Amino acid sequence: MKFQKSPGTQDILPGAVERWQYVEGKARDICRRFNFREIRTPMFESTELFQRGVGETTDIVEKEMYTFTDRGDRSLTLRPEGTAGVVRGYVENKLFGEPDLTKLYYIGPMFRYERAQAGRYRQFHQFGVEAIGAVDAALDAEVIALGYTFYTEVGLKGVRVELNSVGTPAVRAAFRERLLAFLEPKRELLCKDCQSRMERNPLRVLDCKTDQAHFTDAPSILDSLDEECRIHFEKVQACLTDMDIPYEINHRLVRGLDYYTHTAFEFKAEGIGAIDTIGGGGRYNGLVADIGGPDQPGVGFGIGLERTVLLLEHQQTELPELHGIDVYLVALGEAADREVSKVIYQLRTRGIRAERDYQSRKMKAQLKSADRLGAKFTAILGDDELARGEIALKEMATGDQRMVAISVLADELSK
Ligand code: HAM
Repeated sequence: MKFQKSPGTQDILPGAVERWQYVEGKARDICRRFNFREIRTPMFESTELFQRGVGETTDIVEKEMYTFTDRGDRSLTLRPEGTAGVVRGYVENKLFGEPDLTKLYYIGPMFRYERAQAGRYRQFHQFGVEAIGAVDAALDAEVIALGYTFYTEVGLKGVRVELNSVGTPAVRAAFRERLLAFLEPKRELLCKDCQSRMERNPLRVLDCKTDQAHFTDAPSILDSLDEECRIHFEKVQACLTDMDIPYEINHRLVRGLDYYTHTAFEFKAEGIGAIDTIGGGGRYNGLVADIGGPDQPGVGFGIGLERTVLLLEHQQTELPELHGIDVYLVALGEAADREVSKVIYQLRTRGIRAERDYQSRKMKAQLKSADRLGAKFTAILGDDELARGEIALKEMATGDQRMVAISVLADELSK
């Protein structure tokens, strides 16, 4: 019997995982500077939370959720995204009772039953942020700036911000009528997906990749915005301009989740096959109340980490030295071997990244291992050195070699 991973899942192995750790480290560091604090919510939640939160007519809820009944007869779903769970946690733990704005971030796996391809998986990872408790458009801009900073600081080039306003539910209802009036005469020309979307969610029709040619004269939601929506949208743009964050307005941008109001945005870049969206988010002023909380507005994004890592590879981005041990200890003979067991433990407790041989291999084989592991130093211990209480320390970059007392090896390497 041979087991294989399920379609759309991945093993992230040593050699690749260092990129992940680097990217996640950057995300945490940037969140610290923007004063977003981490929240960890469960990997599964009640199915109803996502039906209500994400929206009954979205692709996610209609066909992509991993839903199961547990032994207690509850309908549970592996989280397809992070926002609904974070908002549930915000309400359940009464974080709205705190005097300051709630600014949260998360990094973790999400699950969607999608057709797997490069950049699209069934288990994938998001870095997301949610700021809950303020309507200020400066906060929308801050969230966009945070995401943009993440991409630039990990070293990606060519990341674009696309921005739109999807207005309030009332604005959208009015726009829906205008849009349907425009689409109706073209119905027969549109693809099957669009025809069915016209019934359920006509705004998403404009997002269709194949039918763009029919939409050149489509009405723009931006012409349907009311005064409040327009002022909010203008301030988001003004704040982005103040921070020198480049953006483009795309009035056809609609997101795949139902909770958005006002600002909707996506981060885009070329290089992962047919996929160009690498992150997305927006404002959700009704969501907290929709899932039973107080009337608190929010704004956030989700950034796909697989897509970030794929782009780093595609752009051959040089990352800082991620692997490479500090020292490889070579032992020659039984007594030296015992001593190395002791010394290597001391080095490791002193913060030095050290490795050794466990198979009594010849010196040449051990030195090859040191090379493969990218050791900065090798330290060679034979019986003669051991008798003198010394070890031969060699710096690999320069080839310089000298004897040092075993008792000061940790100090020497720490320098
Ligand atoms: P989303 O657009 O559904 O938004 O997902 C955000 C990002 O997650 C996508 O841009 C993409 O990078 C990544 N992603 C989504 N599905 C997959 C997949 N199957 N495989 C690989 N990557 C994927 C949300 O999830 C919202 N919760 C974002 C948000 C937070 N809005 C407000 N706050």
